[in-house]
Amino acid sequence: MKLKRYLATLAIGLSTTTVIAQDIPRITIDSTQPGATIHRDIYGQFAEHLGRGIYEGVWVGKDSEIENINGFRTDVIEALRDINVPLVRWPGGCFADEYRWRDGIGPRDQRPVRVNTHWGGVEEDNAFGTHEFFELVELIGAEAYVNGNLGTGNPREMAEWLEYMTGTSNSEVVEERRKNGRDEPWKIAYFGVGNEAWGCGGHMRPAYYADLYNHFATFLKTPRGSEPKYVASGGHTTDTSWTDTLSKNVQRQMDGISFHYYTLPTGDWDDKGESTGFAESEWFATLRQTLRIDEFIRLNKKVLDKNDPEKKLGFYVDEWGTWYNPEEGRDPGFLYQQNTLRDAVVAASNFNVFHEHADRVHMTNIAQMVNVLQAMILTDKEKMVLTPTYHVYDLYQVFQDATALPFEIENPSSYRMGDQSLPGISASAARGKDGQVYLSLVNLDPNRPQTVAVDVKGLEVTAASGRLITASTMDAHNTFSAPEQIVPGKYNAEVQGSGALQLEMPAKSVLVVALKD
Ligand code: AHR
Repeated sequence: MKLKRYLATLAIGLSTTTVIAQDIPRITIDSTQPGATIHRDIYGQFAEHLGRGIYEGVWVGKDSEIENINGFRTDVIEALRDINVPLVRWPGGCFADEYRWRDGIGPRDQRPVRVNTHWGGVEEDNAFGTHEFFELVELIGAEAYVNGNLGTGNPREMAEWLEYMTGTSNSEVVEERRKNGRDEPWKIAYFGVGNEAWGCGGHMRPAYYADLYNHFATFLKTPRGSEPKYVASGGHTTDTSWTDTLSKNVQRQMDGISFHYYTLPTGDWDDKGESTGFAESEWFATLRQTLRIDEFIRLNKKVLDKNDPEKKLGFYVDEWGTWYNPEEGRDPGFLYQQNTLRDAVVAASNFNVFHEHADRVHMTNIAQMVNVLQAMILTDKEKMVLTPTYHVYDLYQVFQDATALPFEIENPSSYRMGDQSLPGISASAARGKDGQVYLSLVNLDPNRPQTVAVDVKGLEVTAASGRLITASTMDAHNTFSAPEQIVPGKYNAEVQGSGALQLEMPAKSVLVVALKD
């Protein structure tokens, strides 16, 4: 290993340093071997009728004192626009399999009130329905992923909802949409046929659901050219039987199979772990749990590669993220939790895994967009705060529709706790749509800064510039009274002398840089 000296100038307060570079991790990116496209829909969001995810989080109604655009809170819309959200999944989740789409159309004061039996047993007044959802995605510049009701609905209802949304004829259903104020059909990017059929969607066996999928999908029709991608409800964790059964037995249109995985620090649904105030052992356990997504994707890809060698099917991780114990004093059915630097590290590490599997993982939705689980945004009446996870989505925008680049890490570091160890660094590289080579690095170790040497085959790298997220404590987070405890800082580094570029990563940090020649 050559001895190298480097100087990294970080505009976030890291001092200019000179170190001896011995056995440091060295990442070599091959920019001459482009891989799969990192589909922008990997950066999708999920908004369910759950807690304050929609009501208050996004929708406050036109008469609200909270500043709004036609009922949608202006601050949230602007923040979502800024991170270029490509896709939003709605209305659930478990809620989807009880949702009656007709409840949410027509004059708001005539819409029925129901009870949201899954989430808190609260009254759902259906003020936010189909028209409001499409207005939301239009306002933020995203596409729509609508999840149909297979659990308690029937094929006719599902088919008519699809017709209502996409139809161009003079049928009664399409005329009804027009009467409700929308002439043009909407575009649906993805349509889900049920949700978690193995659980809240009906506790089914894969073979039974595969039959139901064929049954329902037979009647799902749209005008030619406006077909959504159809999503079958798939499995979870190491159970690949859903992927196997569906990829073998579905005979109707199916573009992808969904998969859900939540990161629980303890892995125990009865006591998941706290969102703040946790020990390092929980930081470590959370990262160990979250990195299991790689194993799950690999297992399912193996099945798909056997049953679908032409790679027609996508593997859609359409629910993922951290899930902690409910915050004290909050309705446990609302799934509201704080979001810390640990969540930022989780999000970035997941993205790096998704990029690696971009040949199959074409779409994912973090759970959820506002006020629920690993949210981008938290609100409290008129107040709004952006979470560390939001800032990771912001940094990673450059990877939307980028082309993955292969890389190798020599001398990989590890992060150890007791007799267990995790990779010290998680990485990903890609050529962005603007032609630049981008590198993301995550330092998983909460105690140890790391220096990483970077080489790019096909590019004489002289400098890097981008943004970095870090903080002094593992559970640093933004609050309504202190909203900027964690914000991205500018990061610049340049090659010193004749050696490779070296990037200094503070402990527990996320970095995205453009590599420059
Ligand atoms: O995201 C919260 C819930 O988690 C969803 O409604 C369900 O699909 C999953 O179990």
